[in-house]
Amino acid sequence: MKQIFIRGGIPLKGQVRIQGSKNASLPILAATLMTKGIQEIKNCPKIADVFHMLDLLRSQGVKAHWKGRSLFLDTYHLLPAPMIGKEQESMRASIFLAGAMLSRFGQIDMSYPGGCVIGERPVNWHIYHLHKMGAIFCEDGERLIAKCENLVACDHVLEFPSVGVTENLIMAAVLAKGTTTITNYAREPEIEVLCEFLQAAGAHILVTEAKISIEGVTSLGSASISLPGDRIVAGTYALACVATKGNVLLEGAPVEHMESVIKVLRDLGACVFCSEEGIYLSANERTKAIDCIETAVYPGFPTDLQSPLLAVLATADGKSGIREMIFSNRFRIVEDIKRMGAEVELVDNMALVEGVEYLEGATVRAAELRGGAALVIAGLMAKGVTYIENYGFIYRGYENICRDLTELGARIFGE
Ligand code: EPU
Repeated sequence: MKQIFIRGGIPLKGQVRIQGSKNASLPILAATLMTKGIQEIKNCPKIADVFHMLDLLRSQGVKAHWKGRSLFLDTYHLLPAPMIGKEQESMRASIFLAGAMLSRFGQIDMSYPGGCVIGERPVNWHIYHLHKMGAIFCEDGERLIAKCENLVACDHVLEFPSVGVTENLIMAAVLAKGTTTITNYAREPEIEVLCEFLQAAGAHILVTEAKISIEGVTSLGSASISLPGDRIVAGTYALACVATKGNVLLEGAPVEHMESVIKVLRDLGACVFCSEEGIYLSANERTKAIDCIETAVYPGFPTDLQSPLLAVLATADGKSGIREMIFSNRFRIVEDIKRMGAEVELVDNMALVEGVEYLEGATVRAAELRGGAALVIAGLMAKGVTYIENYGFIYRGYENICRDLTELGARIFGE
């Protein structure tokens, strides 16, 4: 599938199952490299980033197979090898492999991690903190190569509660000698899921309000984990429902992880009901503008939903403002959505949106994962036909956005 075709203007109706969480699956997949046994990951999303990560794991000897939505990984016979291939360059999450590989094999040799082009995404903090635990890095500009005898526990105070750094250090510490602590750690729910998986495999991790403490163990065995629904996919479909004045049930949406998103949905004018089944949402009137909203670390409003929200605000009743606080270049949809008729002005890290009556279909181009999903929302509410090129970016995080939205009655297909 290369492009998406949408005929807009149809309210979404019905129910759809929310796929498992991408950002919970990727660190757990990396963590399997530290285990010896059979790992089961239930509700694992079938998305490009997971397939890329699996290719990297296979290059280290992991055997993987799917049974429905469960992924089984045999990690009995691993053999560390340089990681060659395009996978790491296209995926930021490959940096997690550094903590896992150093911790288990004392070495890593990989390309620099890539990922969506959403601004500067350096790995300086990862390197700094892994170095503190004894890893020696040799950077030649193209590859990230590091070695260590054994990683040694230490106390880390993070300069910023980075999701990736927190996850990487947890992995590095699990097989390190001694007790590691991490303060100012990230609170995103995906970190709790990673800890649950590692604990099930035999790790000693204690999470308190103040810090994460990890007492190193000598080996990890088999484990099984069930991933929660993807809070960003659920948020994307909820915003699509508001945009089209729809009525939907998002089955398996992780309600407990979506407080800030649910508040915004209500501020936009939607009626939202939460139950064990998921989130039920109904929107009938013109979307309300939001004066000023800022993205923030969890439990704040997630940066990953900033572009989808911007698309919805494009036709809201009045002026809105969104300030991006996490990534430096995450307004990449602005030029495309303006070509669809939106009125958006960028001032520093803030997008000022003057709501218009309607958007018009156009040919647009996804430039990154969440921006691509935002263009899908714009296409769903626009008059006429929208073509979105570069579907590949969206497939990195959404199993099959066309299938899901078709289930909700949208006229959307990929080719
Ligand atoms: N940062 C540094 N140096 C570092 C690491 C991070 O300066 O060594 C900066 C980043 O450039 C950014 C900020 O710290 O400005 C926060 O980055 P963080 O490390 O928290 O993000 P991440 O681990 O790279 C994960 C998700 C992202 C999500 C962010 C924030 C995964 C695989 N990725 O990225 O997800 O946006 O946390 O919540 O878990 C997405 O799903 O679309 C996505 C980009």
